[in-house]
Amino acid sequence: MASYTKADYRSLIAKIIQHDREYYQQDNPSITDEEYDGLRRELLQIEATHPDWVTPESPSQTVGSTPSDAFQKVSHEVPMLSLGNAFSTDDMDDFTQRIRRYLGLSSDTPIPCMAEPKIDGLSFSATYENGKLMRAATRGDGRVGEDITANLRHIADIPQHVSESRLPAHFEIRGEVYMEKKAFEALNARHASEGLKIFANPRNAAAGSLRQLHASVTAQRPLRAWVYGWGAWDGSLLESQQAMLSLLADAGFPINISNQLCEKSEDRETYYDALMQKRSSLPYDIDGIVFKVNALDWQERLGFVARAPRWAIARKFPAEQVTTLLEAIDIQVGRTGALTPVARLNPVSVGGVVVSNATLHNEDEIHRKDIRIGDTVVIQRAGDVIPQVVSVDIALRPSTAVPFQFPERCPVCHSHAIRAGDEAVRRCTGGLQCPAQAVERLKHFVSRQALDIDGLGDKQVEAFYHEGLIRQPQDIFTLAQRDAESLTPLRNREGWGSQSVRKLYDAIEAKRAIPLDRLVYALGIRHIGIETARLLALHYHSFSLLRSQIMAAADRTDAAYSEALSIDGIGPAALDSLTGFFTEPHNQDVLDALMEQVSIQDMKKNTQGSDHLFSGKTLVFTGTLVEMTRDEAKARAQQLGAKVSGSVSAKTNYVIAGADAGSKLKKARDLGVTVLTEEEWLEQAR
Ligand code: IVH
Repeated sequence: MASYTKADYRSLIAKIIQHDREYYQQDNPSITDEEYDGLRRELLQIEATHPDWVTPESPSQTVGSTPSDAFQKVSHEVPMLSLGNAFSTDDMDDFTQRIRRYLGLSSDTPIPCMAEPKIDGLSFSATYENGKLMRAATRGDGRVGEDITANLRHIADIPQHVSESRLPAHFEIRGEVYMEKKAFEALNARHASEGLKIFANPRNAAAGSLRQLHASVTAQRPLRAWVYGWGAWDGSLLESQQAMLSLLADAGFPINISNQLCEKSEDRETYYDALMQKRSSLPYDIDGIVFKVNALDWQERLGFVARAPRWAIARKFPAEQVTTLLEAIDIQVGRTGALTPVARLNPVSVGGVVVSNATLHNEDEIHRKDIRIGDTVVIQRAGDVIPQVVSVDIALRPSTAVPFQFPERCPVCHSHAIRAGDEAVRRCTGGLQCPAQAVERLKHFVSRQALDIDGLGDKQVEAFYHEGLIRQPQDIFTLAQRDAESLTPLRNREGWGSQSVRKLYDAIEAKRAIPLDRLVYALGIRHIGIETARLLALHYHSFSLLRSQIMAAADRTDAAYSEALSIDGIGPAALDSLTGFFTEPHNQDVLDALMEQVSIQDMKKNTQGSDHLFSGKTLVFTGTLVEMTRDEAKARAQQLGAKVSGSVSAKTNYVIAGADAGSKLKKARDLGVTVLTEEEWLEQAR
């Protein structure tokens, strides 16, 4: 095993916590489940070699993630825990051996276990009083979850009333809310056509749909649920997991029909193989099997270690792979001209989701794996909807298949496509002359963080571009007038009516005054993200100064060059791309034409005494911020003229509460100090 330093260990912890937050709170993970499991395994390995390093904050000692402040909190009467993972038959044998040792049983005593599909959704708990559903919560950090009572009431699988006489007056069931694969695809298709959020996989769709502040949104989402256990139970339990599940089924709770009792280890293996086979034909995603010791007296004796029971384990499945024919390789052109190869596949079902495209990343990747059109390829869907091409089955390669020639010209505008320096990406040099880049740039120009024009989503931008109605940013602002003079006005077209057209024009009109940072970001210059755009705007504060200074910086001997490089976050690559953009004649024409239509609002240098909301105010940051470090937040607050303090008092004006906020947040609430979420803070601090 690689040797680790304590610093490696700490940074691994930070990484896992960040991924937990993306997964549990933001319903938006950035790595696959397999990658995540890999990080977890690495953590356990380090902890096994360095038990003295383990801290209570380690993800091995905690469960899930802090509940969001947006929801009411619910304390779980019985903690909601997590499960250890097994990846092989050996791991399963270790699991049963541990149990035997713990219970003092001989090494050949069978350990009968319930086998249950591990549903890939999000867990919930629901409390019943005298047969009535009273309260429901998410798992949260295992001790405290989020109140989702109103939301859960919209899931028809969960009974509002139960009248089974063997149930106690007060009890709690636990289970998983999920979305079926078909419903997930339909929801995404609807969202795509309406320009709404696209979910990466059914699990995120389920989590995003359940964790809604307005239960009416949940009501419109096709959520389902399975029940697999219980929490508080004011009465005596039956003798086994199996008996309890069948009692809950009799009471009307949804209990998975694939659950099965496995008496011996061979039965567990058979169940595993059979469920693997069945996996892709199930209507919902599962990511493994949960094996639970069947006898409840054994469960009781075995108890828990840190975050997981000793009596249960999750046997994980490998990522699903299938083979199919690679029919073609298409090249897509993005906003910055990047040529991205996409595999067009003979449609095939992976994990029940029909897949006809897969990403090929870039040209080096194609050569490294020697992927050729006509090849039979292995594809894998690893947590996400966008599958990857894993490898090629050379034995099935037709003799006619030739190595793939990556185009050296843009497939859309035929300009040269070149690779700069050691970049893996080949880019079209056509700039805005290239229709593909132009459309992507227009989409970016009106996107949420840029101009944010309602009613002008990707679909509309594409249609307007292809009809020639909007070719360049400035055209957006002359659309209404041209339309008024048109013989085929928009309101008469399919999909449009007088009202929606009016709304669109109002939305455009409202964006004629553009804050400088939004404009700089909207231009879609490579390397200039939202934060860099803000820093540029803060530095130059007017568009005319920014433009002339960046033009001047094209000459590296000019003072403007070193001045620009002195701006935080602007390095040589970003500056090259800025000067490249502003000195390009075509871009200059676009900017001049745009300036005739809009006015750019100066960015105030935020010093004490300015009229910013936070100016002269005392701010306290608490908890973990996701978008920026504590130091960055502090610097930003000071730029805005605020004082940053470490403790909350009656003099505190605002408390900005990140994740895991604790006593300071409580104190702020007690003192009636205004509490902002990180998002609200960012909104105000831009
Ligand atoms: S039992 C203490 N059973 O897996 C027992 N969990 O990694 C903990 N899950 O939070 C849970 N299907 O969200 C259990 N049949 C099943 C499950 C299941 C899915 C999820 C659940 C839990 C996570 C644990």
